[in-house]
Amino acid sequence: MTVLSPSQQTLLGQLRQICGQAHVLTHEDPASDLSAWEQDWRKRVKGLALAVVRPASTAQVAEVVMACAASGTPIVPQGGNTGLVVGGVPDGSGQQIVLSLGRMNAVRAIDPANLTITVEAGCVLQNLQAAAQSAGFLFPLSLGAEGSCTIGGNLGTNAGGTQVVRYGNTRDLCLGLEVVTAQGDIWHGLSGLRKDNTGYDLRNLMIGSEGTLGIITAATMKLYPQPAAQLTAWAAVPSMQAAVELLGLAHQHLGPGLTGFEVMGQFALGLVDKHHPQLRVPLWQGSPWCVLLENSDSESEQHARSQFETLLERALEAGCVSDAVVAENLSQAQALWHVRESITMAQAAEGLNIKHDISIPVSRIPAFVAETDALLAREVPGVRMVNFGHLGDGNLHYNVQAPVGMPGQAFLHDYEKQINRLVFDQVAQFDGSISAEHGVGELKVGQLPLYKDATALAMMRAIKTALDPHNLLNPGRVLGAN
Ligand code: FAD
Ligand code: MLT
Ligand code: ZN
Repeated sequence: MTVLSPSQQTLLGQLRQICGQAHVLTHEDPASDLSAWEQDWRKRVKGLALAVVRPASTAQVAEVVMACAASGTPIVPQGGNTGLVVGGVPDGSGQQIVLSLGRMNAVRAIDPANLTITVEAGCVLQNLQAAAQSAGFLFPLSLGAEGSCTIGGNLGTNAGGTQVVRYGNTRDLCLGLEVVTAQGDIWHGLSGLRKDNTGYDLRNLMIGSEGTLGIITAATMKLYPQPAAQLTAWAAVPSMQAAVELLGLAHQHLGPGLTGFEVMGQFALGLVDKHHPQLRVPLWQGSPWCVLLENSDSESEQHARSQFETLLERALEAGCVSDAVVAENLSQAQALWHVRESITMAQAAEGLNIKHDISIPVSRIPAFVAETDALLAREVPGVRMVNFGHLGDGNLHYNVQAPVGMPGQAFLHDYEKQINRLVFDQVAQFDGSISAEHGVGELKVGQLPLYKDATALAMMRAIKTALDPHNLLNPGRVLGAN
């Protein structure tokens, strides 16, 4: 058990007064198990929290921040703890509190005429989607972790997911924010306005700041009409170049109906087949790549199906598709999406791995993959590529698994630096980004000075210092030691 200083004891007393005894969890209580908040999803880092604090309202968040600021205690905001870059867990010092937004999960309002929904930060994404659906609308943000990630975390990371090709990332879906600042002030920015040019864009600054600039307590998000029909197809393609050609045809034939375009490499699908044997993975054995396409149609299912058929005929003629299936009904479509969304779990089951969440201009992806695969195979013989992702957005999860027989821990220890360097140098050569949608967190902090424009980094540091001069909010994340 950690020995607490008198000022930490005083702080814990204050936090209990603010949030209630039951909502301040510490290691002092032997019955409390804090590992769900201290361990990151990928099991890369296990931190040690001074306390996990679970406020129930924005006013409580503000009071918690003021108490922590007065005692100089750092705060790590946390939603569903599904982040993939170690951004939402405490460090190992035992000095930081985790501010868990999970109890703040209410849907505050739906404005059908304005096409907006206002929710609290701890609202689980799936519940937000369901609330939109019950009101007759679509909230399009969708990702594999949607059953546990929260809208606060989605905004914190500016999450992407599988519908970005049509609706954009979380930033594009947000109209207003309520934020508690590092001083404990509340910014009431929950406007549902689509136009507001009254100065700097603080909303977009907060989104993607990974808890380093403010604590998001609520958000006003955009709603969309539900499509009349949604169809899913699965196509085997002979090469990455063919997948890019298929994307071009899909844009041409489906227009704004194209709401999903995911690419999956053969080895990635093989891992799903191996670790989730109950799932039926179609067409993967005979093809290096498969593509999952979604067509959301505002007319009818018949219209969507005939559009899809025309697209796939053209693609077969052009040789960019070798075989394809179109889901006959919703449950078949869900089964196809389930296979796609299971890759992350299957890869985790295979062992610790190196993830690269990169973006490259779509036109250059085939050359990037061919060159980088060859360089990696030369550098680490036997290395296995778990390559998949949101090709429609130019976003690849260009992940690297240890050679057969090499334990994951040893692989990371011996090769992570070298492999990151190789891949990120290639990304830079191809005018890409080293983080497309997962963020920087702690895992990529060391990379930012190598790959981000120095002037941009200096401006980011100036903003951090201005908004959080005592470096209390998620210190060490994104920018490293400030
Ligand atoms: P957390 O993990 O709790 O936190 C993430 C970051 O946001 C941390 O830096 C944290 O400090 C900060 N934060 C959390 N809440 C707040 C708040 N209220 N105010 C300010 N900062 C806050 N990501 C994608 O982009 N696309 C995908 O397709 C995708 N698929 C995934 C699939 C799986 C199986 C898993 C496990 C993860 C996936 N992710 C994906 C990553 C992850 O789900 C997203 O990053 C998600 O947005 C994190 O939400 P969370 O609530 O779990 O946030
Ligand atoms: C996904 O798209 O499934 C996640 O963002 C990717 C990952 O696990 O790298
Ligand atoms: Zn992704």
